[in-house]
Amino acid sequence: MEATGRKRRKFLLSLILGLGGLGLLARFFKPRLPQTPARLDVPRQEVPPHGALVYRQARVALVREEEDFYALDLTCTHLGCTVTVTPTEMVCPCHGSRFDRQGTVLQGPAERPLRRLEVRIEGERWVVTG
Ligand code: FES
Repeated sequence: MEATGRKRRKFLLSLILGLGGLGLLARFFKPRLPQTPARLDVPRQEVPPHGALVYRQARVALVREEEDFYALDLTCTHLGCTVTVTPTEMVCPCHGSRFDRQGTVLQGPAERPLRRLEVRIEGERWVVTG
């Protein structure tokens, strides 16, 4: 009886140590994915409610409407020109595609909407990646 109990304890201990070792190995061999670098980092108070800010060099428009806040990539989905933002819409100067404030195509030749970028809040800042 005593020998069976000892064997059981030894087996359980081996099992626990083995699983712990596997966990460590898995963690060690897990590839570390690089964090997507920030494309834009903006103080939250800079973006007015019901407004938009354009960062032409980064090709990003930050748009804030009611509770909705999003970032659009201003790269035209037709052939890659930088889209110009007007108070009512976004227009591509190259071939005349037009997009609404959400980036939806109003007029071609572009067929796909402007790409939405990932935005996360870090303290008092908006960080745009993608
Ligand atoms: Fe924008 Fe052609 S590149 S419409």
